[in-house]
Order: sequence, then C-alpha cells, then structure tokens
Amino acid sequence: MNVMRDVPRIHRVSDAQAICAVINAAAQIYRGVIPDDCWHEPYMSAAALQQELEDGVVFWGVSQGHELVAVMGFQPRGAVDLIRHAYVRPERQRNGLGRTLLEKIHDQSSCPILVGTWASAHWAIRFYERNGYRRLNPRHTARLLDTFWRIPKRQVGASVVLARGDAFERLRLAGEV
Ligand SMILES: CC(C)(COP(=O)(O)OP(=O)(O)OC[C@H]1O[C@@H](n2cnc3c(N)ncnc32)[C@H](O)[C@@H]1OP(=O)(O)O)[C@@H](O)C(=O)NCCC(=O)NCCS
Repeated sequence: MNVMRDVPRIHRVSDAQAICAVINAAAQIYRGVIPDDCWHEPYMSAAALQQELEDGVVFWGVSQGHELVAVMGFQPRGAVDLIRHAYVRPERQRNGLGRTLLEKIHDQSSCPILVGTWASAHWAIRFYERNGYRRLNPRHTARLLDTFWRIPKRQVGASVVLARGDAFERLRLAGEV
C-alpha cells in the first residue's frame, strides 16, 4: 500500500473542470433549501467558474491521491478579501477540511475578510461562526454585498454576510463602509 497516497495535500488549484466537480457535488445540499429560482443544474458551469478565475478568484484545494476533495476560493476586492466558493465533497464533510482551507486563506490575507452565503444555509453559517466569523445585520449585509460583490440581485436578497473577527469595524474605521 502506498501510504503517501492517503495524505491530504493542500495546493493551489486552477483546473476549472476539477473545481466544478467538487462544487457541483457539494452544492446538491442547496436543492430545496435555497429559493427555487436560484437553484440551477449544474450549480456551477465550467464557463462560470472560468469567469470567476478571470475575475481574480484564487482557489486552494485539498487532494487525496489524485482526487480533489475540497476547494475554497478567495478574491481580493480592494479593501477586503472575500471568501468565495467553499465546498467539500459530501462524503468528506465534517472532517476539518473546510477549516484547514479557511486557515490557509487566513494565513495569506492581511485584509479584513468577509464571506457571503445563502441565508438558508444554516450549516455554512455555523461553520463560519465556529471559525471566528460574525453575522452582520441585514442593513450592513446589503451595503457590503452591493460594494464588494458582483452577484445577481436575487441572490443579494437571499444572502447573509459574515465578517471575520473585527473586519467590519476595521472597514468602518477606514471609511470603506
Ligand atoms: C460548509 C463546508 C465548506 C464546511 O467544510 P467541512 O470540511 O465540512 O467543515 P469542518 O469539518 O471544517 O467543520 C465542520 C463544522 O461545520 C459545520 N457543518 C459543516 N457541514 C455541516 C452540516 N452538513 N450540517 C451541520 N453542520 C455542518 C458544523 O458546525 C461542523 O461542526 P460539527 O461537525 O462539530 O458539528 C462544507 O460542509 C460544505 O461543502 N458544505 C456544502 C456546501 C456549502 O454550504 N458551502 C458553503 C458555501 S459559502
């Protein structure tokens, strides 16, 4: 048996097809949970993912053997870094891979970090809260989504924003919000 094959490896990833495969497997959990008119299949097409890469989203991934099992992106957006597209293959969830990738991104960033997710994705909100993020109120959420994200209006209305630690206060002090 090749023991090295089983050691999870964290690395940068830019293969749109491979990233999409992880996202689309994990995104099945949204079916019937997010608003019906926001659900589509595939949840993320390779073309849409390619656009995200061109817009500056940088992905980290975890591979085991030859399989990519988790991905998490971050996107520098001026005064902030955004966490974008955090997905772990369903059979690998709740094993600390999400946390490992989040910590990797924290290590890379010196900016206030924000993350947006579906308001109905209670598990994801819990995941971020357990990792030092704080949910912002609807007024601040709407303002931040408008300032730092480029997502459809319908998605804005169904989303929440969480800030890492004192990220929101830092942005306020800097006059960014
Ligand atoms: C959210 C996600 C990225 C977290 O990655 P992960 O590797 O599963 O998370 P970790 O193992 O580091 O942390 C686990 C914690 O996250 C939360 N959590 C993750 N998945 C959960 C689920 N299905 N149900 C309830 N809580 C969940 C819990 O607080 C959990 O702690 P617990 O197992 O002690 O209850 C991953 O579960 C996932 O891909 N979910 C589906 C897609 C999604 O919602 N993505 C978020 C987009 S912003």
